[in-house]
Amino acid sequence: MDAAASALAHRVVPWLGRWPLPAAATWIFAWGVFAAVRPALGTASAAVLAGAAALVVAWREPRPWRRAIVALGFPVSALASGAAAGWPAWVWLLPPALLLLAYPRRAWGDAPLFPTPAGALDALAARIALPAGARVLDAGCGLGDGLRALHRAWPQAQVEGVELSPALAWLARRRCPWARVDRADMWARPWQGVALVYLFQRPESMARAWDKARAELAPGSWLVSLAFEVQGQPPTLSLPLDGGRVLHAWRIPGPTARGSARRQRAGSTRAHRRR
Ligand SMILES: C[S@@+](CC[C@H](N)C(=O)[O-])C[C@H]1O[C@@H](n2cnc3c(N)ncnc32)[C@H](O)[C@@H]1O
Repeated sequence: MDAAASALAHRVVPWLGRWPLPAAATWIFAWGVFAAVRPALGTASAAVLAGAAALVVAWREPRPWRRAIVALGFPVSALASGAAAGWPAWVWLLPPALLLLAYPRRAWGDAPLFPTPAGALDALAARIALPAGARVLDAGCGLGDGLRALHRAWPQAQVEGVELSPALAWLARRRCPWARVDRADMWARPWQGVALVYLFQRPESMARAWDKARAELAPGSWLVSLAFEVQGQPPTLSLPLDGGRVLHAWRIPGPTARGSARRQRAGSTRAHRRR
């Protein structure tokens, strides 16, 4: 590419990425897919394919609300244009069915699907050294973005994930073949033997997570939460991230530490009494 063409590309590409152009471009793209494949596949299958294509593009958007707008543009505009008149009724069951598959009812009490940004744990890795082979767990691992951030931050660690949604667990396994991903309830899954548990849930989940961490994690292990704190438990570390979120980490104190502090206090009291 000559210098003039490269300068033009530099100017045009950031401009094309400016919101809401990606949304408009995706909607047009989805309509293009629909129009192109409809003669061969029929209206319903073409619509499903076009909607899926828009969903794939939408996934690249960094913010959930933008993702929703990009993904929903095609189905909403199809409905509005009346193009959906000839679709069979079952097509309308697909979106809620997919939503339920991706996000089962029991997960609603914890957190919906918001992925961890790629480098969110890098600064924490500079503060927490884990031995090679240490087990790290993403509790509620969704599509695997938290698993990827853990793997990037502690490449020598053994990365594990637990996810309630069968569809998300299946996708996380495909995206993170180096991790062990179980389809299970994170509250039922034991945390014993894990060096660091990572959560990106909801404020309401944090007290329960703290109780579980205190009951099951060994002293010196870590509970890490993106964005949400445990009420009344000052974190050992709090690191601000780009975008305004804060990463909180608690080092689990042990009965040993508390016991030795108590023993030390008792010893110094006895020494006082002897004096
Ligand atoms: C905000 S997303 C975080 C995804 C991932 N940890 C990340 O940071 O990229 C929360 C995830 O927790 C899952 N989840 C909610 N409740 C759960 C539970 N009780 N057991 C396992 N997973 C759960 C949801 O299905 C969702 O995928």
